[in-house]
Amino acid sequence: MKIGIIGSGGREHAICNYLIKSNKINKIFCFPGNAGTSDIAENINIDIENFENLKIFILENQIDFIIVGPEKPLVNGLVDYLEKFNIKVFGPNKTASQLEGSKIFTKQLCQKFNIPTAKFGIFKNKEKSKRFLETTNFPIVIKADNLASGKGVYICNNQNESNKAVDEIFDGKFGKAESLLIEEFLIGEEMSYFTIHDGISFKTFSTAQDHKRVEEGDKGKNTGGMGAYSPSRLINPTLEKKIIDKIIKPTLKGLSILNCKYKGFLYAGLMIVNNEPYLIEYNVRMGDPECQTILPRLETDLIKILLACCEEKLSEINIKWSEKKSLCVVMCSKGYPDSYKKNIEITNLNKIRFNKNEFLFHAGTRKNNKKIYATGGRVLNFVSLGDDFGDAKKSILKNLKYLNWSGGFYRKDIGYKVTDD
Ligand code: AMP
Ligand code: GLY
Repeated sequence: MKIGIIGSGGREHAICNYLIKSNKINKIFCFPGNAGTSDIAENINIDIENFENLKIFILENQIDFIIVGPEKPLVNGLVDYLEKFNIKVFGPNKTASQLEGSKIFTKQLCQKFNIPTAKFGIFKNKEKSKRFLETTNFPIVIKADNLASGKGVYICNNQNESNKAVDEIFDGKFGKAESLLIEEFLIGEEMSYFTIHDGISFKTFSTAQDHKRVEEGDKGKNTGGMGAYSPSRLINPTLEKKIIDKIIKPTLKGLSILNCKYKGFLYAGLMIVNNEPYLIEYNVRMGDPECQTILPRLETDLIKILLACCEEKLSEINIKWSEKKSLCVVMCSKGYPDSYKKNIEITNLNKIRFNKNEFLFHAGTRKNNKKIYATGGRVLNFVSLGDDFGDAKKSILKNLKYLNWSGGFYRKDIGYKVTDD
């Protein structure tokens, strides 16, 4: 079978790595992939926003099955487009992808179906937003409606900060803004909860906690994710039942009223407050770096699960997980999430010997003449499985020491709530 994976991050390298283990698969194409995927797949340099070129390549090369990693092509309707040409594809359609593509869409669904979430208001212009903010308590959260690569969320501590957020959003920093969201600030602990769907049924796909802030102690600017661990320390059967009954099932009901089935991964970003889940956001894909952290714990053949989803047969699959704990530390280019130098060589990578519980997933890298260069902000993901999180972390830190890359940095405190140090 021939597979195509859309995307170029650590998430896509991890997916590629688990698919290649299957004897069902004899070739993988990555669009466009990275240095890591180039070792196990063929990287194809097609702009993933150009749906027509993608389709032509897929049909000409008789690719049997496409897996879409990132949100942007999902929100822009890649699944609907490819399915029109009878191409088998894993991921939600354009209507369902509004769960990530429009924060207002999701908030309105929460309101209609009583899904627990932060109290909120929708504001259509600067004046109305600012008038409301004159009388509110701080901190407060202000969000752009549309996709903003995690940057469209402002946590404001005073009126100056909130007025700046309102101006930036309505001035078009994240694209044309017809309205914005102002939300109550929830205090609790965040958890990422994943499910996988075939349009008819769904199963849980484990949990993780990620560290989004760039500095140790969870301080500084928001990033795509500096590291993660799985499973979450917060999950328990009572909480899981509440998440499914109060959040996931009503969401699916809301979509079904729009005549929409959900197929793909669904990622609920939750705030847990006293063992009660509140929905902060939905993502219509696996998380990055959560995916790299979770997949090493998966014991069932990934392609079997994904294909079952495309045949509405997920209920026939038993998804098995290892009891081991998984931790991931992301190596970033110095300067990230602000500006950073590109095309810096990463030496020493070939000196590291990974054992069967240690994994390296590339993100922003490219290969040229057998040398590896950093091309992105998040560059490499070091993942390890252990009997406890402390063991996993020790083996990652050992490998990072071997790497000793002067062009990068990483957070040394990933998983501090679940490790002793
Ligand atoms: P989002 O992109 O909506 O997940 O927001 C990015 C980050 O902002 C989240 O991971 C939270 O840390 C924080 N955040 C978003 N909404 C809220 C909220 N209502 N209360 C507290 N923190 C929030
Ligand atoms: N790690 C956060 C995300 O994938 O959105």
